[in-house]
Amino acid sequence: MAIAIMTSGGDCAGMNPAIKQFVDYALHHNLKPYFIYDGLEGLIDGKIQAATYRDVAGMMHEGGTMIRSSRSKRFFEYAYRKQAYENLQKHGITRIVILGGDGSFRALNQFHHDFGISFVGIPATIDNDIFGTDYCLGVDTSLNIIREAIDAIRDTSASFRRACVVETMGRDCGYLAVVSAITSGAEVCIVPELAYDLDKIGKQLKAEIANGRIYIVAIVAEGTGQTQKIVDWLSHEVGIETRATILGHVQRGGNPTVHDRLMASQFVTYAIDYLLANDQCANVIVYKNARFEFVTIEHVNSQKYAIDPNLIDLVKRLVHA
Ligand code: F6P
Repeated sequence: MAIAIMTSGGDCAGMNPAIKQFVDYALHHNLKPYFIYDGLEGLIDGKIQAATYRDVAGMMHEGGTMIRSSRSKRFFEYAYRKQAYENLQKHGITRIVILGGDGSFRALNQFHHDFGISFVGIPATIDNDIFGTDYCLGVDTSLNIIREAIDAIRDTSASFRRACVVETMGRDCGYLAVVSAITSGAEVCIVPELAYDLDKIGKQLKAEIANGRIYIVAIVAEGTGQTQKIVDWLSHEVGIETRATILGHVQRGGNPTVHDRLMASQFVTYAIDYLLANDQCANVIVYKNARFEFVTIEHVNSQKYAIDPNLIDLVKRLVHA
């Protein structure tokens, strides 16, 4: 049986360990593993190749995705999906493991309805914004990169009695910012999920500065679009010299942490098992309440992801809302 793996949308650490486990586990089961290169774009263009042990040797520790990724507009069109199906037919591929976000899962769900190709989606995005799963692959590595960056920025901020504003990624979701604020001991955390009161925060910070505080760490989620506003407010209202660091794509790379390597192995193993046990499937494997489960695409799309309220509670004191 031929089975393929592809990565789609924003890449993240953990994809390469997942690809390695995919090949090793598929070969162990006497399946024929295939790579679909360049995500949905590559599927349309027939960039499909049989995979061997040698392809995945020595890549457990590498960030990114060796089969690359893309975002595809063409896949919305039936004619291109048909072309993609014909490419799969040439290799006898009937099952796909796809790593990506909910947009990628929706695309393959449509593909499944069109041509009956079975797939299991593995949530993989540093944004951790997919409804139905507590964890998306890549998040732990991203959080550790952010932690390391903030630790370094704090050193120089303290040396200069400055405030630092650190902008984290996450699209519309403040998960990376919330967890980073908690685990870095930040003084300010601005996320789309929480209202904030700059007057009250400012009063407290000024009191603390008068009482000996020498630096301030402010984490701002990119989804708020408020980074410059917070820099200006700290400089002019709070009255502390301020520098901004937009972490950007550094958060998407780097060697996968042990947690992401382990999660990658489990996600992929159970996804293959599921594809072997079920003839027709269009599902997502989620990690919910410390268990792996399979849910429908409809379930994943039924609601917007919400950050655990217990985590939100931990940062409420940083926004004075
Ligand atoms: O979805 C992952 C993500 O890194 C977001 O956090 C960010 O908003 C976006 O992708 C950046 O996209 P691009 O790589 O196209 O600049």
